[in-house]
Amino acid sequence: MAFARIDLADPDSSFEAVVQAGGFDILVNNAGVLHDISLLDPRSDFAEAMEVMVAAPLDLIRLNLPRWRQTGWGRIVNLSSGWGAHAEGLGGPGAYGVAKAALNALTRALPRDLPPGVKVNACCPGWVATRMGGPTAPLTPEEGADTPVWLALLPEDGATGGFFRRRQPIPW
Ligand SMILES: NC(=O)c1ccc[n+]([C@@H]2O[C@H](COP(=O)([O-])OP(=O)(O)OC[C@H]3O[C@@H](n4cnc5c(N)ncnc54)[C@H](OP(=O)(O)O)[C@@H]3O)[C@@H](O)[C@H]2O)c1
Repeated sequence: MAFARIDLADPDSSFEAVVQAGGFDILVNNAGVLHDISLLDPRSDFAEAMEVMVAAPLDLIRLNLPRWRQTGWGRIVNLSSGWGAHAEGLGGPGAYGVAKAALNALTRALPRDLPPGVKVNACCPGWVATRMGGPTAPLTPEEGADTPVWLALLPEDGATGGFFRRRQPIPW
């Protein structure tokens, strides 16, 4: 198994590893950053949030395109959040919800440009006991991973361009 550490906040640092690997069948855009700093604060995390949760996922999708065009099969899973849903009020501190809403927008827009056989979906994992979610969150990491893994392995007749929680579609 190959392992490469990449810094998604640095657009120049990272993507040699993907190219060298020849791309991946399944791309799970899981990395996230959440800081409790007002959008109006000069120290706002807006740039970092947009880089890690929007620009880097799009870069990674572009880098995988040659493989997906060749094989005709690909799955993209974007780890979003209810805090990125207009339908749930764009909650969350600082730039987090804005970036997740932009990731959702990418998820809706990309199907028209992706090659046939490549599906892209977003999901909210729920409130999960990770470093971000904290120890009091009700879901284990395994439970939080259920919907992303399901989306990563969707069959040919599965959804694309959707937003899911607990394997069910939810409003944007
Ligand atoms: N936990 C929840 O309740 C919850 C709820 C809704 C949505 N989500 C979403 O689920 C996803 C996973 O969250 P989590 O709970 O596992 O968060 P987490 O415990 O804070 O982990 C975040 C992950 O993102 C990686 N990451 C952050 N900045 C990065 C960068 N610049 N380059 C590369 N990797 C970077 C971290 O890598 P390092 O370990 O190397 O720092 C870590 O693996 C996120 O997109 C999050 O927004 C989580």
